[in-house]
Amino acid sequence: MVTYVAANSGAKRMPGVIPLHGEEGFAGMRKAGRVTAEALDMLTSYVLPGVTTAELDRLAFEFGQDHNAFPATLFYKGYRHSTCTSINHVVCHGIPSDRALREGDIVNIDLTYIVDGWHGDSSRMYPVGEISRKAERLIEVTHECLMRGIEAAVPGNTTGDIGAAIQRFAEAERMSVVRDFVGHGLGQLFHDEPNILHFGTPGMGPELKPGMIFTIEPMINLGRPQVKILNDGWTAVTRDRTLSAQFEHSIGITETGNEIFTASPAGLFNPLTTRR
Ligand code: MF3
Ligand code: CO
Ligand code: CO
Repeated sequence: MVTYVAANSGAKRMPGVIPLHGEEGFAGMRKAGRVTAEALDMLTSYVLPGVTTAELDRLAFEFGQDHNAFPATLFYKGYRHSTCTSINHVVCHGIPSDRALREGDIVNIDLTYIVDGWHGDSSRMYPVGEISRKAERLIEVTHECLMRGIEAAVPGNTTGDIGAAIQRFAEAERMSVVRDFVGHGLGQLFHDEPNILHFGTPGMGPELKPGMIFTIEPMINLGRPQVKILNDGWTAVTRDRTLSAQFEHSIGITETGNEIFTASPAGLFNPLTTRR
């Protein structure tokens, strides 16, 4: 079904061909992931009622300029921003704008930096002031979905084991998994093989092997899983307008488990653990 090849600088994405990275790739991803996580940490104290998502986007660009990091989304397929900022019922790919955040909003900031040619891709949820109990529960469950997906991302398991772990937990909590967007391989490419579905059947899909590098980035809805794209061609929203949340890490499969490249040095990845 799939083939595995030694990662090759300059190679293009090929359907069914999964690159296996060596120590050089892991070192590059460690650096790119760290700067990305530091930027998402830096943004934490700016996410307050009254700030615009355009201002947060500018802060992410400037932080990159100061840290040898360039946003992968800037000029990507016609996208013109450094981040995606997805508020409340926006599932993903929200476009930074002059809309000010309001008390009670929840916002996902998704940032990918390129550092020395390697891509660090991560996103988190940020509460704006005090948020509702149901928004807190959604954020907590979505974070737990990502962490359960990562726990399943070990050599010998398959991509289906990751999706199944996420789906099982989300649905047990009476929430739903968005089907329209997937995690993805990355490295010197922004989006590479394999696709990582956030739902599925244990044992299905390609086997995970040491050297694979990919994101896991589940989007979880309080209501139904269906999404629609707004007329701007980017913004994905829940069809039933219920709240949606997402967390994303970039990870690498090792001989014994995995390495998270985008872990927060300040321990700020899950905003709810640090607020209590
Ligand atoms: N960072 C997103 C991801 O997790 C991709 C955003 S592409 C954009 O894969 F063009 F919408 F910015
Ligand atoms: Co991604
Ligand atoms: Co991302």
